[in-house]
Amino acid sequence: MHSSLSLLAAAGVASAATTYRLTVDTSKTFQTIDGFGFSEAFQRANQIINLKDPVRSELVDLLFNETSGVGFSILRNGIGSSPNSTQDWMNTIEPVGPAKPDDTPTYVWDGDDAGQFWIANQAWSYGVRTFYADAWSAPGFMKNNSNDAGGGYLCGSPGAPTCESGDWRKAYAEYLVQYVEYYKKNGIDITHLGFLNEPDLTTAYASMLMDGAMAADFIKVLQPVLAARGYGDSVKIACCDATGWATQRNMSRDILADASAAPLVDVFTTHLYTSKIDSPLPSEGQHAWMTEYADLGGNWSTAWFSAEAAARNDTKATAGDGLTWARNLHTGLTTGNLSAFLWWVATQDTATNGNNNEKLVLVDDAENSYIVAKRLWAFAQFSRAARPGAVRVGVDVVEATSKCKAPVNSTASGLRTIGFKNANGDVSLVAINDGAEDVPVSVHIDVAKAASVEAWATDATRDMERQAAALSPEGIVNLQAVPAHGVLSVIVRAA
Ligand SMILES: *[C@@H]1O[C@H](CO)[C@@H](O)[C@H](O)[C@H]1NC(C)=O
Ligand SMILES: *[C@@H]1O[C@H](CO)[C@@H](O)[C@H](O)[C@H]1NC(C)=O
Ligand SMILES: *[C@@H]1O[C@H](CO)[C@@H](O)[C@H](O)[C@H]1NC(C)=O
Ligand SMILES: *[C@@H]1O[C@H](CO)[C@@H](O)[C@H](O)[C@H]1NC(C)=O
Ligand SMILES: *[C@@H]1O[C@H](CO)[C@@H](O)[C@H](O)[C@H]1NC(C)=O
Ligand SMILES: *[C@@H]1O[C@H](CO)[C@@H](O)[C@H](O)[C@H]1NC(C)=O
Ligand SMILES: *[C@@H]1O[C@H](CO)[C@@H](O)[C@H](O)[C@H]1NC(C)=O
Ligand SMILES: *[C@@H]1O[C@H](CO)[C@@H](O)[C@H](O)[C@H]1NC(C)=O
Repeated sequence: MHSSLSLLAAAGVASAATTYRLTVDTSKTFQTIDGFGFSEAFQRANQIINLKDPVRSELVDLLFNETSGVGFSILRNGIGSSPNSTQDWMNTIEPVGPAKPDDTPTYVWDGDDAGQFWIANQAWSYGVRTFYADAWSAPGFMKNNSNDAGGGYLCGSPGAPTCESGDWRKAYAEYLVQYVEYYKKNGIDITHLGFLNEPDLTTAYASMLMDGAMAADFIKVLQPVLAARGYGDSVKIACCDATGWATQRNMSRDILADASAAPLVDVFTTHLYTSKIDSPLPSEGQHAWMTEYADLGGNWSTAWFSAEAAARNDTKATAGDGLTWARNLHTGLTTGNLSAFLWWVATQDTATNGNNNEKLVLVDDAENSYIVAKRLWAFAQFSRAARPGAVRVGVDVVEATSKCKAPVNSTASGLRTIGFKNANGDVSLVAINDGAEDVPVSVHIDVAKAASVEAWATDATRDMERQAAALSPEGIVNLQAVPAHGVLSVIVRAA
């Protein structure tokens, strides 16, 4: 058996550094984790489809494999509303609308769904069981601006101008459930359904405006349609994918103010483009999901930690760094009380949006190759430690040498920590080190019947690389340093 000292020495840690004892406290419980994910909307899925094997399978494995890849566990699909699938448009299942809302609709399933059905099947084959189908807009014929793009309102929404053609709210609900039905018939169970994307923003691609009161109204139309068509229990309603935390907070507040709408919504969903997380969203038990965010302003970068830009506090230049995303994930799951955290698109090519930094993986179909940004591994550090159904638990941080056993403010250690108890009994810890020196730690994770321990590190030179770790006979004590400007995940597997 190794002594603490020999393991510390093996890890190459200077003896002068303070050692911190990190104890995962499973008696302190917080929110349940639903998972981590991304979208391949806007035809991005085709960039994977167009690769040739074995490269294509390798990339799919990288995204979904929970042993060797990221283990993403949620896929967010865009429910198309446009006449065609070119550029950033996604084609609708109802290309031609009937004259009146109550007339029989004509739906069309093309078996492709802008590439999303294929990626959904890949996800399913890896055990992904959480599928979030989200509409950016209703088709144009249901809206007061007669266009699925360019903002406008759903005809019949309270406060929106009345449309000559009538009230299309129920027709929109039926249409959304029809999308769920097509996936169901073809082997994929959609678990979450959203009817808005950035309802506070008007864009040249699909977009539709709603405020909180309109959303509350529509939830009361949608839920009975879901129930009538047999999805009342299996499909949860998600709302509202606002552009930022502050807008979503207001929309959530307005939905909760409607006592008959509030119990019908299961998940409050938000993006973080226009405002960041400062405290939890209001909730009456609804889970909070961050369903879309990315570094849209940066140039394509694979960097983990841009030391020079960080020294200048240049947050724009570090916005896509892997370490930045490890912190974003940590803030979301702690300060934000999030149950899910989804990056925007997994893949993109150099031609799209000036080869910016909004993707995790740069794909070149012509060369049959791809390049991975290090931030993908920040997601892996969390996604492999917290599987769907895990409960976030407490972590106490104390100076190992201190006689005082009271937990210290973990900020003093320079570490950001988070713990999870998985549904299968596995208990894990993720620790982020912001500092320029390795932080020696002793990790205490008490699992009744522990079978094994794994430690994984990502930093400038490592991508989720397995680290030496051992379970001690007298309880579970594992020794590792959290690498400078790096992330360490420790997972104790239950027998
Ligand atoms: C596809 O639909 C968009 C949105 O309505 C439209 O602007 C565009 O011209 C269409 N493209 C083609 C090739 O039909
Ligand atoms: C995931 O990767 C592991 C290790 O490479 C492999 O054994 C396993 O078959 C993969 N899982 C799936 C579902 O392909
Ligand atoms: C749709 O309704 C909004 C809100 O009243 C209004 O500003 C807009 O002009 C309407 N669009 C059309 C095409 O009527
Ligand atoms: C949220 O609502 C408050 C109070 O009504 C308002 O002052 C604030 O501007 C709103 N914030 C956003 C981002 O809409
Ligand atoms: C955190 O979210 C859960 C739902 O996942 C909710 O029940 C709980 O009240 C939230 N906690 C805080 C502090 O907002
Ligand atoms: C992206 O690259 C361009 C051209 O080199 C440069 O002008 C711009 O500042 C870069 N943007 C960021 C956010 O670094
Ligand atoms: C960067 O920010 C940190 C923390 O806010 C501060 O201590 C430091 O002085 C700043 N550095 C520069 C170069 O502005
Ligand atoms: C911990 O210390 C930091 C920095 O001094 C401070 O910002 C933070 O509020 C403290 N946290 C707690 C929980 O006391």
